[in-house]
Amino acid sequence: MDAIKHYLQFKDFSAEEYAYVFERSRWIKDKFKRYEPYHPLFDRTLVMIFEKASTRTRLSFEAGMHQMGGSAIYLNTRDSQLGRGEPIEDAAQVISRMSDAVMIRTFEQAVIDRFAQNSRVPVINGLTNEYHPCQILADIFTFIEHRGDIRGKTVAWIGDSNNMCNTWLQAAELLDFNVHVSTPPGYEVEPERAGLYGTHHFEQFADPMEACKGADLVTTDVWTSMGFEAENEARKAAFADWCVDGDMMRVAAPEAVFMHCLPAHRGEEVTAEVIDGAQSVVWDEAENRLHVQKALLEYLVVGRVEN
Ligand code: CP
Ligand code: NVA
Repeated sequence: MDAIKHYLQFKDFSAEEYAYVFERSRWIKDKFKRYEPYHPLFDRTLVMIFEKASTRTRLSFEAGMHQMGGSAIYLNTRDSQLGRGEPIEDAAQVISRMSDAVMIRTFEQAVIDRFAQNSRVPVINGLTNEYHPCQILADIFTFIEHRGDIRGKTVAWIGDSNNMCNTWLQAAELLDFNVHVSTPPGYEVEPERAGLYGTHHFEQFADPMEACKGADLVTTDVWTSMGFEAENEARKAAFADWCVDGDMMRVAAPEAVFMHCLPAHRGEEVTAEVIDGAQSVVWDEAENRLHVQKALLEYLVVGRVEN
């Protein structure tokens, strides 16, 4: 089972593999926009396991599989045996005998790691407490579409050092760009949890304005991620000054873009002026989940293709 390629965190792929997947994403997106059918996953099945809510992730994987000629099956913990204590290892054995790929959205990364160790087919991380690699795949593809190569650029991350932040940091190491992180005290990046090798590609700032200075991309996310709802009130108080506003965008580079993985809370982590403003690329970012994940599925299920 060792030879199977999974996508459990951003560093599972090399920079060369990312270059390939971005090239395929471009090709697949352009073909889709021309209404030309492309069915490399004819007769293939993706199983999607959700232990947390989702709009974009479910929709983009499900639509993506259908568009590529395959099908997608939705499972959740409430109405499958997964919520009744069946060992994750047993579930992996069974589910992977009936499918060609599995996408999982769950809590601890350890759950998806254990599933992958017992799976006969590729496993994709659709978000864990620690990482959200499919989203960063879409974000970087979106940056490339709007501004070109991300190498050497600066991303300002404002807010919680959560799954999105950790994944940006892994991406910075792999693709050689910089991340300026500003979190409230007590919510700083934990390099080991982020799965980083070193700290060369990121810098922490106490003041979010300082983090945004000169940045090519300013991005943020909810103050309270799924699974941390009990901390909501404490987080609202702690994060009040970590709201991306017009002043932060004005100190960023003149050509800076704004991104948010969505769903967003206007008036909390970002003002309506910024997310609905001219520098925001959030709708392209959301759409690109579809195109990059189709390229990801193609790569994991059928391997490299030439066309
Ligand atoms: N950005 C994202 O993953 O959205 P969903 O929670 O709607 O899937
Ligand atoms: N950090 C957020 C992202 C949601 C797509 C969460 O984990 O809830």
